Amino acid sequence: VSTEVNGILLAGGAGSRLFPMTTAVSKHLLPIYDKPMIYYPLTTLMLAGVTKVWLVCDSSQRGLFERLLGDGKALGISIEYAIQETPRGIVDAFSCLPTLKQKGPVWLALGDNLFFGSGLGPSLAVNNSCLGASIFLKEVKNPQDFGVAQVENGKVVSLQEKPKQPKSPLCITGLYRFDETVWSRCKAVQASDRGELEITELLGKYLSDESLSHTVLGRGTYWLDTGTAISMAKASSFVESVQSNSGDIIGSPHEAAVRTGLITVSDFAKLVSRFPESTYGDSLRNLASVL
Ligand code: DAU
Repeated sequence: VSTEVNGILLAGGAGSRLFPMTTAVSKHLLPIYDKPMIYYPLTTLMLAGVTKVWLVCDSSQRGLFERLLGDGKALGISIEYAIQETPRGIVDAFSCLPTLKQKGPVWLALGDNLFFGSGLGPSLAVNNSCLGASIFLKEVKNPQDFGVAQVENGKVVSLQEKPKQPKSPLCITGLYRFDETVWSRCKAVQASDRGELEITELLGKYLSDESLSHTVLGRGTYWLDTGTAISMAKASSFVESVQSNSGDIIGSPHEAAVRTGLITVSDFAKLVSRFPESTYGDSLRNLASVL
């Protein structure tokens, strides 16, 4: 029996909101303080228990992602690359991954979402045995900028994508876990008015047959979409502040690998001893000295 847990890491898209920073390079390779943006959602997937990552990106960026992440072996996981030529929407990621189709349930993480909080890993990993789809909600001040879920009596009753008048302050964050029915359901998703295959429409198909479950992320969990210049700056300053005050490291796939037992403490120590002197390298060497 395979214990492999699959996860899609979505790193395509035009990045037009970050022009001209994204003219030559994918936004997911730009820094959030001391590490590339893609490290943060990769870490989230690993904490959720994902052992096989399918990274979806533009063909022009594939070589850069491969240079950064390789085949994942150093992190105790495996990473495969798939190409999305045109950004047709988040749901389009599934059609870029025909080989993943036979493999059952799958996580999906948007490449520009940052999560941080105590106990996050275990609270995500419980969803590995769930039927249907699981979503993670966070109360925000600007729900109109995101997908929004309205919850009544503990149940999601409606979903809206970037509504002018949100029915609730609960944003649907960019992390989802789907059962194997996702492969047939995503085929029925139609392009929206803005011409994209919207994730909220796919989630709506689960909602309509009562197989959508949700977790509301509480005060102890920090969440940010880092897809705009201002949110990148805010996220960088948050990461810098937490890391320099507490020594905790946010968004390190290397730390996630050793904490979840994907690599041994001694392999971790060997790996980080070879890292150059940098804020990231130094903080991981500090961690290695106390494990
Ligand atoms: O961040 C959470 C929000 O993400 C959700 O609340 C929304 O429901 C969801 O639609 C999405 O909204 P955004 O407007 O933030 O999506 P964006 O176009 O920024 O794309 C999200 C990520 O997915 C980003 O890392 C780029 C990647 N992407 C996007 C599209 C449309 C792709 O790889 N391919 C695509 O075709």
